[in-house]
Amino acid sequence: MLEAISKSVFHALAGSAAITRLASRYGMAGERAFARRFIAGERIEDAIAAARAIEGRGLTHTLDYLGESVTSAEAAAAAADEYAGIIERVTAAGIGRNVSLKLTQLGLDLGNEIAAGNLRRILEPAARHEFFVRIDMENSPYTDRTLDIFERMWRDGFRNAGVVLQSALHRSERDLQRMLALGARVRLVKGAYKEPADIAWQRKSEVDAAYVRMMDLLLREGQYPALATHDPEIIRLARERVAQLGIQRTGFEFQMLYGIRRDLQAALAAEGYGVRVYIPFGREWFPYFMRRLGERPANVGFALRQLVG
Ligand code: FDA
Repeated sequence: MLEAISKSVFHALAGSAAITRLASRYGMAGERAFARRFIAGERIEDAIAAARAIEGRGLTHTLDYLGESVTSAEAAAAAADEYAGIIERVTAAGIGRNVSLKLTQLGLDLGNEIAAGNLRRILEPAARHEFFVRIDMENSPYTDRTLDIFERMWRDGFRNAGVVLQSALHRSERDLQRMLALGARVRLVKGAYKEPADIAWQRKSEVDAAYVRMMDLLLREGQYPALATHDPEIIRLARERVAQLGIQRTGFEFQMLYGIRRDLQAALAAEGYGVRVYIPFGREWFPYFMRRLGERPANVGFALRQLVG
């Protein structure tokens, strides 16, 4: 219940223009930059520096150029250009080649064709440079369209892309079957959005139970599964299951967000598990930041202490 309320409050705040302005002024610059714990910075150089540090600790990463809910075709095309530039910069930097993106950033609100066209403009250079492109999953109005566009790319022969499924949604267990039938790579998450009760589990215990059911199937039948969670109990169960199934520690990966449970990231990597850190960067960091606060209201205290401390 509390989780549902805090998600709604932070989603509402994320839509406030005044708060967005305030945050852009103080969130990322200077010593008191309260968003810096969760966001690598506003520029690609910041992301590359963060990625190098993460590689230095024996972890891998995926870079996310922040942006979503784009409302003009020009802005959507500009985001695709930006990603093409990131692919060049990352290749030149010689760091790991893996990016994450959102289809509303590529114009999904303007129609499937625009988003699919922009995605293709990213997947082509990504394939040439051997990048993996993860298509993040947004809130439920986009689930079908995201999976459909992904499937279209898959049919067109792009094998360098994968999807995300959210255990919070009732439909996801069926979607997992669909993705397993394709042979597609899946990142499993709990789901960061507030969703209605007729389509989504509302209690943490239900979301967690669905996660464990999906994780089990994904580990047994999936292609290089990505288990994205910071939940210690689920991670314990995953380790147990992997050992029972005889899966190598490098045959799947744990994924966690930049700045969250760095201790656990390092401990798992030290034990030989694959651990990928999701590194967000860019000027449009506010909605992402608010979702992180919504997941864990204690982070508000952390952000305020940075600001006034
Ligand atoms: P849960 O929220 O139950 O938290 C378990 C524990 O983890 C907490 O007790 C705390 O210790 C720690 N923790 C979790 N969140 C924290 C935070 N914000 N700050 C500090 N500690 C925290 N969602 C989505 O809808 N679409 C997507 O594409 C993605 N992509 C994605 C990629 C990666 C790599 C990760 C790790 C997560 C996502 N998510 C996502 C977000 C995901 O759906 C979910 O909201 C968060 O991971 C939080 O859920 P946990 O599984 O960590 O469990």
